[in-house]
Amino acid sequence: ELGQAAAEIDLRAYLVGGSVRDLLLNQSTQDLDVVVEGAAPALARRLQERTPGVRVVTHAAFGTATLIFPDGERLDLASSRVEHYAAPAALPMIELGGIHADLWRRDFTINAMAMDIHPARFGDLLDPYHGLTDLRERRIRILHSLSFVEDPTRILRAVRFEARLGFCMDEQSQRLALNALHLGVFEQLSGARLWRELRYLFDLPQAAAAWERLGRLHLWTVLRGEPAKDPTLLLARGKRALEMLQWYHLLFRPEAVRPWAVLLRVLLGDLAEPALRRRLHEFQLAARDASVLLADLRQLRPLAQRLRERLEPWPRYQALAPVSLEGLLALMAWSDNELLREQVSDYIQHQYDLALPLDGADLLALGVPQGPRIGEWLQWLRRAVVEGRVQDRETAQRWIRQ
Ligand code: CTP
Repeated sequence: ELGQAAAEIDLRAYLVGGSVRDLLLNQSTQDLDVVVEGAAPALARRLQERTPGVRVVTHAAFGTATLIFPDGERLDLASSRVEHYAAPAALPMIELGGIHADLWRRDFTINAMAMDIHPARFGDLLDPYHGLTDLRERRIRILHSLSFVEDPTRILRAVRFEARLGFCMDEQSQRLALNALHLGVFEQLSGARLWRELRYLFDLPQAAAAWERLGRLHLWTVLRGEPAKDPTLLLARGKRALEMLQWYHLLFRPEAVRPWAVLLRVLLGDLAEPALRRRLHEFQLAARDASVLLADLRQLRPLAQRLRERLEPWPRYQALAPVSLEGLLALMAWSDNELLREQVSDYIQHQYDLALPLDGADLLALGVPQGPRIGEWLQWLRRAVVEGRVQDRETAQRWIRQ
C-alpha cells in the first residue's frame, strides 16, 4: 500500500535501518522505519486518502510523519536526510538529501541497508556499504572514521549489537572506538544519553557478554565517572550479579527485579558518596530509584564485611531488612564469600517477604491494649517468627496469651 501510494505521487520509499537488518536475519522486527526520498508528510497524506481510518501526525520541522492505523499500529516515515552535527555529541540537525546520503549517516554497515518498497522493485536491496557481507560474516563495522566522534553513543550501540547478535567489531572499528575514547568524546555526551544506552545493555539477555566487553574496551572510567579500582574484580562482580539474577528468576517469586538496577549497584558500589550522588544526578535516575540505590549502597560494604561471619537469625534479619531486593542481589554479587551468599540467599528465600501470622487487629482481639504497644508486640512477634519459635497462627496466639 505504502509503496503503491509512493509510486502514485512519484516518490521513492525504502524500508531502512534495523528492520532491514532483522528481516535479512530472519528475526522479528519491532518497528518499521521507512525513508522517503522527498517529503514524508506528502506521502503520509496520500496514504491517508487511500486508506480509510488511518490517522497522520506530521512533524514538518523534522520532515517526518507517523501513520496510526485503526488497530493502533504505528509506522514512522522520515524524509531521507543528511544530519549535521553542530558539535560532537550534540543532537543532529537535519536537512533533506537522497537515500544514499541518508544511509551514509548511519552507524554500522548492517544498519545502513535499504529495501525498495516500490511495487515494481519491491524487496530490491540497496547496500552501498556491503552490510550484507558483514551480516554474513557477523561483523559490526562503522562506515567512516569519524562515526564514533560524531556520536559516541555508537560505541555502546556497537557493544549492544555485538552481544545481542553474537557479532564482533572489526579491528578498524574497534581501534577507532578506542581512539575516540582517548579523544575524550564522552565528555561531550550528556549523562542521561549515556545512561539510556547503558541501561539497554544491562537489560539484554546477553548482558554478561556486554559487561565483559565494556571492560575490554576500557569503558569503566567513562561509565563510572572515575576509573575502576580493580577492573578484574568489577568484571567478576558483574558476572556474579547476572548469575544471582538468574538464580532469583528461577525462584519464581512475584516481585520482579530489574537487571539494570542490580548491575548499576555493582558498577557504582564503591564510589564515595559525593561522587555517587553526582553520577546519579548526571544519569537523571528517577528520584525514587536514586534514593533507594543510595540507601542500599551506604550499607553494601559494611554488610558484605559483617556477613562474612555467621550472624544469629534476628541480628541478620535486622541487618538485611532495610535493603531492597535489588540491593540484596548486588550484595550477593559483591564478594565470592560463601557464607555471605548463603546467608543472603536464605534471607531472600525465607524472610524477605515475611508474613506475620497475626496482625494488629488480631492482637487487639487477643486483649493487647490499643496504642504504641501494638507496634512493639508486632516486632516481638516478628522476632519470634524469625527465630523459629512461632510458625503459625495457633502457636502465635498461644505465644501472645502467655
Ligand atoms: N542510528 C544511527 N546512529 C545512532 C542511532 C541509530 O545511525 N546513534 C540508525 C541506525 O541505522 C539504526 C536506526 O537509526 O538502524 C534505528 O535506530 P534504533 O531504532 O535505535 O536501532 P535499531 O537498529 O532499529 O535496533 P533495535 O532493533 O534495537 O531497535
